[in-house]
Amino acid sequence: MRIDAISIFPEYFGVLELSLLGRARARGLIDVQVHDLRDAAHDRHRTVDGTPAGGGAGMVMRPEPWGETLDAIMAESAAGETSDDGPIIIFPSPAGEVFTQAMARELAEERHLVFGCGRYEGIDQRVFDEYGDRARVRLVSLGDYVLNGGEVAAMAMIEAVCRLVPGVVGNPESLVEESHEDGLLEYPSYTKPADWRGRTIPPVLLGGNHGAVRDWRREQSIARTRRVRPELLPPDLRDE
Ligand code: ADE
Repeated sequence: MRIDAISIFPEYFGVLELSLLGRARARGLIDVQVHDLRDAAHDRHRTVDGTPAGGGAGMVMRPEPWGETLDAIMAESAAGETSDDGPIIIFPSPAGEVFTQAMARELAEERHLVFGCGRYEGIDQRVFDEYGDRARVRLVSLGDYVLNGGEVAAMAMIEAVCRLVPGVVGNPESLVEESHEDGLLEYPSYTKPADWRGRTIPPVLLGGNHGAVRDWRREQSIARTRRVRPELLPPDLRDE
């Protein structure tokens, strides 16, 4: 999978060198290219923002550096890609649709993702309109809160998507039993020692009865989901 990230703080993406994703990059499963938006700002101060048309607080990102950077990425990827199987351009934004595990699964099937990370009060609307005509564009929010910019949100999405790319996570079975994969929150996990500060492991987990373990884990998942995220419960598990 190819991933391009555009930002005025490319250093944010340095952590993609670490851990599972770093290994996946080294093994060629994921190709991440980070672009400094200011490389496409050609005045002396490398300006990327301006005051909002119509007035108001804050600054808005100008369209030209975005146009130049996105055009270069699109031109490079144009070989062999049409607007249907060309890149999906994702702009992290608190005004977007909410990112979910289902969206992560969908995006993990793609060949090429582009993350356009805005700062300030947002990006000039004409950028979304221009690339919406030429590619698949999505505004995506990490949740109902406001970050300083799209970088941290893009990092979270990149991690959630890349770990679903075949080969990135060594044991694919570990993906199956996670929170959200079956629509429920994950059950509690334990490991050695059997007694820690007087706190013991539930006996069912040490009894060797796999059926009983499976039933216990499912009950725990349902109880936890009912307690903290009741809106996630499938209809047949509600109102018990
Ligand atoms: N940029 C600022 N806040 C954000 C959020 N909640 N999700 C995605 N991008 C953002």
